[in-house]
Amino acid sequence: MQLRNQKLEMDAFLQERAEVMQTWPTGKDVDFEDGVRYQLALPDSKRFSNVLAKAERDGKTLSQPRAGVALVDEHIKLLQFLEPSCDLLPTTIDAYTRLNHYEKAAEGIERSVAAGTSLLNGFPAVNHGLAECRCVVEALKKPVQVRHGTPDARLLGEITLAAGFTAYEGGGISYNIPYAKKVPLERSIRHWQYCDRLVGLYEERGVRINREPFGPLSGTLVPPFVSHSVAIIEGLLALQQGCKCITLGYGQAGNLVQDIAAIRALRELGHEYFRAAGFDDYALSTVFHQWMGGFPENEAMAFAVIGWGSAIAALAGATKVIVKTPHEAIGMPTKEANKQGLDATAQMLNMVREQVFPQSPIVEREVELIKREVRAVLAKVFELGDGDVVVGAVRAFEAGVLDVPFAPATCNAGKLLPVRDNEGAVRIFEAGRVPLPDDVLAYHSEKIAERAKAENRAPAFQMVVDDIYAISKSKLIGRPR
Ligand code: 5AD
Repeated sequence: MQLRNQKLEMDAFLQERAEVMQTWPTGKDVDFEDGVRYQLALPDSKRFSNVLAKAERDGKTLSQPRAGVALVDEHIKLLQFLEPSCDLLPTTIDAYTRLNHYEKAAEGIERSVAAGTSLLNGFPAVNHGLAECRCVVEALKKPVQVRHGTPDARLLGEITLAAGFTAYEGGGISYNIPYAKKVPLERSIRHWQYCDRLVGLYEERGVRINREPFGPLSGTLVPPFVSHSVAIIEGLLALQQGCKCITLGYGQAGNLVQDIAAIRALRELGHEYFRAAGFDDYALSTVFHQWMGGFPENEAMAFAVIGWGSAIAALAGATKVIVKTPHEAIGMPTKEANKQGLDATAQMLNMVREQVFPQSPIVEREVELIKREVRAVLAKVFELGDGDVVVGAVRAFEAGVLDVPFAPATCNAGKLLPVRDNEGAVRIFEAGRVPLPDDVLAYHSEKIAERAKAENRAPAFQMVVDDIYAISKSKLIGRPR
């Protein structure tokens, strides 16, 4: 395999860059030096990394919505409407752009103009191009992040970073496995090495750009060790290309102890692996995603899900929380619904802020469990790659050592089966080929057996199905009726 975890050579990068910039006409407006100047002229208050660093110092959890519509003016109005209710802003990119279908995005823009409303599910930043993207950044006081789901996000990165966005979400694994069916993992990882290298070039010029691997993956009963393993790998890949500001993410599972432990373990493991790889000059923060699975349609019930996620984010000490809306079950939120999600979140964060979750041996035990699981998986990843984490990651997916539940990618084994235990923590029902220690597997089985006993049924796939729909039907655990 040619792909390795090595900093891309400058010559090769520049040659590739010339090709990337030609894939759509707006690429020609981007000039790296001009992008650096523009970034350096931004006030500190608009730099994502500054706001994150301050929150880390203050022990505060920041809030961030998702939001994006087809047209520039409407997108600006939307973000200006949300800005007073949150700490960090997004620009959520539409599905055509995520697939590099810029012709389709162009049609979507035209049809949106004609319809007088957005007919895209996000902001098509590549089609709008550099100047229009700068209009977005300039219309706002708070930092803006690009949030998407793009296996090949090279041109999107070139345009938005030169336009003054100060954070970039995604990664070669986390924006492939849960999003694409047939994109080879080697290819998406290679394309994300490009994105990370680009961020690294800005860093070399004194421009700090936050990089956030997408934590929740499929958002469906993902055990913490699975998403943590991927997050740490993507963090390592980003650091290797010269990124310096990393936010590792995790999607709420629903059990208080497991979720608090997961954020703690994520932060500690992040430092452990980054330092072991020889990195010390980096900033690390965490993001907690409010429940990413199915939501109740009833808006009052949806607010309870949002509130619970907000409370846990604050108690866990996450640096930021990504906020859902009461429209989650229906589809794209109105701007009012989006603001309601933020307001509910802010109320909860403000009430929980000063409270500290007490030292607890139960949380401690869960932290240790997650750490042992991640270490077992990552040890195998490094072994499979003969020490190279990129080679190892690709082989680990082939071997089912890295296995994301309910992900569409054909290169993902899909053999690992999670299920909730009797308190709603996500446990391993079937490990597939994931190399967890025997005593860890025995513990998971024990916890699942407890639930099976309480429900008077044998552990079976039906439990998993029941769990997937439980929260949308107002429960955490999918109990039999
Ligand atoms: N505006 C608001 N929310 C969005 N999501 C996706 N695109 C947008 C957008 N343009 C949300 C979905 C889901 C999550 C994955 O992202 O509603 O909550």
